[in-house]
Amino acid sequence: MATNKLLLLPGDGIGVEVLAEVRRLLALIEQKGILSFEIDEDLVGGAAYDAHGVAITDAAMAKAKAADAILFGAVGGPKWDGVAYDARPEAGLLRLRKDLELFANLRPAICYPALADASALKRELVDGLDIVIVRELTGGVYFGSPKEITDLGNGQKRAVDTQVYETYEIERIAKVAFELARVRSGRVTSAEKRNVMKSGLLWNQVVTATHKQGYEDVKLDHMLADALGMQLVRAPKQFDVIVTDNLFGDILSDVASMLTGSLGMLPSASLGAEDAATGKRKALYEPVHGSAPDIAGKGLANPIAMIASLAMALKYSFGKPEVAAVLDRAIAAVLDDGLRTGDIWTDGMTRVGTSEMGDAVLKKFEGLLAA
Ligand code: NAD
Ligand code: IPM
Ligand code: MN
Repeated sequence: MATNKLLLLPGDGIGVEVLAEVRRLLALIEQKGILSFEIDEDLVGGAAYDAHGVAITDAAMAKAKAADAILFGAVGGPKWDGVAYDARPEAGLLRLRKDLELFANLRPAICYPALADASALKRELVDGLDIVIVRELTGGVYFGSPKEITDLGNGQKRAVDTQVYETYEIERIAKVAFELARVRSGRVTSAEKRNVMKSGLLWNQVVTATHKQGYEDVKLDHMLADALGMQLVRAPKQFDVIVTDNLFGDILSDVASMLTGSLGMLPSASLGAEDAATGKRKALYEPVHGSAPDIAGKGLANPIAMIASLAMALKYSFGKPEVAAVLDRAIAAVLDDGLRTGDIWTDGMTRVGTSEMGDAVLKKFEGLLAA
């Protein structure tokens, strides 16, 4: 059996705790003969800073570049608040995304029927919700230059971040969204602020032009990003695939998470372009949530976002969509049984911690594989 090179980057806070649950699933997947892994591991974020003075070392970057897939926990925390900007924990994640050219970030928001009452919205608005936010991940205001704070010498400072998009960046993310919509319900909503931003205007024009290059079978709508935020909480089921820039995608996906019950439910896949020769693409899988300093180290974190990120890896990197579907069914079944970490707990449900939730998913998964 071909060996798959997997790099684990647990990071900080609950990143370490939720990735521990995935390690057990990986062991089971190997034990069942489904896949064989060559697993490596390294530090990232605050953990890397404490050990090496940088948020990710060149050696870890080399491992990341050589890996078929990366499973990433989370980075950051108040301990590193005073660290220099370039060495802050988040810089490690941004370097991974940029240097590996992981431009396409898929963030599915699915409201499992059992969790419809855990959402901040009324059950009927979210029950059965299944949308994907396609976030551009290597451009925009996150990476544009100049990015600086200058001292004006009069007691004032001036901070600049720069939003930059070029045609090819918008075109390639639009194609990802159209192709994804084709295997879903065939609808894409593109969000920008063309009424205020030049980059929004270009975004709108390029998405429209790309649509005409053979994607007319997909229904395309445009919405201003602020209005889309409002529609996401007014009537979220009107959407299927939402494509948007780096910053709007970051914010809108956190909003979308509360439709599903919790930020602890949202997985993501960050994908590069397909290599023409090998058909492979670089990929990093991580939950949408952060290191959750308020609950870190207490065994309270919900591991489902991380486990569902493993399911995305099985589907997009390891050619096992059917095993990914079984893992997703295992998550749904555990929720149907009434197990809940604190973030998704509602009256009458059984409250569990991180490892109990991980254990329950593992057992269900094993059972469903055998069935
Ligand atoms: P956060 O996502 O860490 O936490 C926000 C809230 O959601 C907290 O109340 C937290 O307890 C809760 N939460 C998040 N994930 C959860 C889970 N799996 N189970 C239960 N509850 C969960 O966001 P924040 O507090 O704004 O940021 C904390 C740190 O994480 C910051 O340093 C930030 O930069 C970093 N961050 C990292 C990533 C990443 O590594 N991908 C993503 C977002 C934030
Ligand atoms: C996310 C996070 C990151 C982002 C941070 C930690 C750099 O919020 O992945 O959603 O802003 O992209
Ligand atoms: Mn975010």
